[in-house]
Amino acid sequence: MSENWINVSDAERDAAEKLDAGTHGYFAGGAGDEETLRDNIVAWRRWRLRPRVLTGVDTAGAAAQVLGGPVSMPLLVAPVAYQRLVDPEGELAMARAAAAAGTVMCLSTLATARPSEVAAAAPGGRRWFQLYAFKDTAVTEALIDEAVASGFEAIVATLDAPPGGNRERDLRAGFRLPGELGVPSLMAVDGSGRSLTIEQTFAMMNPAMDWSDFAELASRGRVPVLAKGILTAEDAELAIAHGAAGIVVSNHGGRQLDRSISSADALAEIVAAVDGRGTVLVDGGIRRGIDVAVALALGADAVLVGRPALWGLAAAGETGARRVLDLLREELELALALCGCASPAALGRDHVRRAPATPVYSVE
Ligand SMILES: Cc1cc2nc3c(=O)[nH]c(=O)nc-3n(C[C@H](O)[C@H](O)[C@H](O)COP(=O)(O)O)c2cc1C
Repeated sequence: MSENWINVSDAERDAAEKLDAGTHGYFAGGAGDEETLRDNIVAWRRWRLRPRVLTGVDTAGAAAQVLGGPVSMPLLVAPVAYQRLVDPEGELAMARAAAAAGTVMCLSTLATARPSEVAAAAPGGRRWFQLYAFKDTAVTEALIDEAVASGFEAIVATLDAPPGGNRERDLRAGFRLPGELGVPSLMAVDGSGRSLTIEQTFAMMNPAMDWSDFAELASRGRVPVLAKGILTAEDAELAIAHGAAGIVVSNHGGRQLDRSISSADALAEIVAAVDGRGTVLVDGGIRRGIDVAVALALGADAVLVGRPALWGLAAAGETGARRVLDLLREELELALALCGCASPAALGRDHVRRAPATPVYSVE
């Protein structure tokens, strides 16, 4: 089935057909009126490319370096919780797909497989660990220890939650995690072996974390720490000042604060604020290789995709997730070639401009 997909929308359609309405709503939905969810996608499309010709580029390749290591393309797999809701192998299948596609998988704190299991499932793959800070620091410590011991190369500290956003699709559908589905690494620390609801899990997290806590985390130096969920130049500056190795410009896929700025619109000021002092990644609404090209031209080092890879996994397991990643890489390679760029690094600010305002025609 997935071999017939021509683009990410095909995977999205097949996933929507396969998943029950409540589960689909959990993955597809955003907060409130979902304005940011929609704007994330539209905002990339407000940019237009300025391709160059006769640059003598023979073949364009997407290969790049991210945080000092190689990737087949500057597109990584974003942390997405509870992947066994859509596939029996969940995060293990996603890790294999990312490894096969030659890119990094970022594993969620709320994963339905332990970091050590994910490492064993895809030993050759590059992996990062997304961290939520817990009120009980022993929980946070145990998560970091397991991830670092399992070869996770970086900690991606998510700073735009808790609290969780108001996901009205979930409220309307009465969506609940199935009782048997848990987060094994949290259950192991908890010791009780009981599965927690999403609300109970968020309630365990530390909403009062501040920059001194972040600095403490970043200063340990075991692995680089990235700050995820940054939307302003001010916070990017603070993150770098408090030891972040990089920033993930993100609004959590529109799931937290509705009407927060789209990640595409936040990117430029953050690139300017970081000014080469750290890696700048961006996620939210990337659905096309051309979106990736725009992000790179605006100064991102790489992008992450959440839902696209998840739709691939939901519709066709590991093969489906791999297919989505390959499609995006092929689209990026074609975009690079048609822009006259041999590699992602060749894309610069001159390759993009804002789209002219759409004229309004009156149809009488
Ligand atoms: C269902 C779902 C669960 C998510 N879970 C997490 C999570 O556990 N931790 C986290 O930092 N981000 C989480 N995110 C946000 C993603 O990491 C990423 O920021 C977002 O999906 C990017 O937008 P996109 O889906 O349009 O690519 C989640 C997103 C979705 C859709």
